[in-house]
Amino acid sequence: MSDRIIRPCRSVLYVPASNAKALAKAGTLACDALILDLEDAVAPEAKAGAREAVSQWFAGHPKDGPLVVVRINALSTEWGMDDLELAGRLEPDAILLPKVATPRDILEAGDALDEAAVADGVALWAMIETPKAMLNIGAIAELGRDPASRLAALVAGSNDLARETRVSTTPDRRYLLPWLMQIVLAARAGGLLALDGVANDFRDTQAFARECAEGAAMGFDGKTLIHPSQVEPANAGFSPSAEALAEARRIVEAFARPENAGQAVVVVDGRMTERLHLAQARDTIARASVARTNSDN
Ligand code: COA
Ligand code: MG
Repeated sequence: MSDRIIRPCRSVLYVPASNAKALAKAGTLACDALILDLEDAVAPEAKAGAREAVSQWFAGHPKDGPLVVVRINALSTEWGMDDLELAGRLEPDAILLPKVATPRDILEAGDALDEAAVADGVALWAMIETPKAMLNIGAIAELGRDPASRLAALVAGSNDLARETRVSTTPDRRYLLPWLMQIVLAARAGGLLALDGVANDFRDTQAFARECAEGAAMGFDGKTLIHPSQVEPANAGFSPSAEALAEARRIVEAFARPENAGQAVVVVDGRMTERLHLAQARDTIARASVARTNSDN
């Protein structure tokens, strides 16, 4: 897996590859990752032009910016293989596979990349957006334990999931939450990134901040986005808060005191604190530090 994949993925913006203005804007935004989309954001008649635009975009952008992911059309469609061939040649940080249903969908894409001798550093990300993917989520995520599969992230596709299951979409996402939590659980079991679905109502900034806070509390690493205005709130919502960072520092300090050397359990802020909390605290401090570095860039 590419080193770059362990960088923060708080804000992951879809950019329709057929939209020249959006592509031009993409390189200027402070998001952690861009998904150049050849799939649902591109009309059938615009697919070939979108491929060409993605090629040109790669030629004009340095590799040290945000992570770059290309979302291809499903391999079962008439565009899928050409998209995969192009993405393999461009060697982005990851290729996002839509409409994944079974582990076989990921293995098939991985085999095609291996056959084309595409660098191992090109990861695969999987959209989890069909009822079948939800039913097979454990087996799909298990591929994350085998680096040869290239699988590095699960991406919630909440719009497709709602459409295919026919659940109502409500502002509190109540009918989607069980599946979103399954995606987080599976991602953790497979050692994968977990990315929350998009919020369509991009003008409602309050609702969006709430949804980011909720996604972070649910354990997601970040959120997929559709509009530049969502980048800053997602970066804030998925970075450790000042309170969480201060608490993490108090835990590290407590275990570092000479009188606590060799202790498995100490008391911090009146609460039982074990070494697992120390590991968690170090993780929070590390995440806050990379989040700061990324935001400074
Ligand atoms: N990525 C990069 N730039 C984007 C963008 C995106 N996803 N969405 C909008 N922009 C740009 C616009 O081009 C515009 O640029 P400008 O300042 O150079 O004029 C600026 O941000 C402001 O855009 P705005 O006018 O507010 O929105 P819009 O009406 O142009 O677009 C959407 C609204 C929803 C159509 C557009 O945001 C979009 O297509 N989002 C992505 C949809 C998608 O990828 N769906 C599939 C995955 S769910
Ligand atoms: Mg979809």
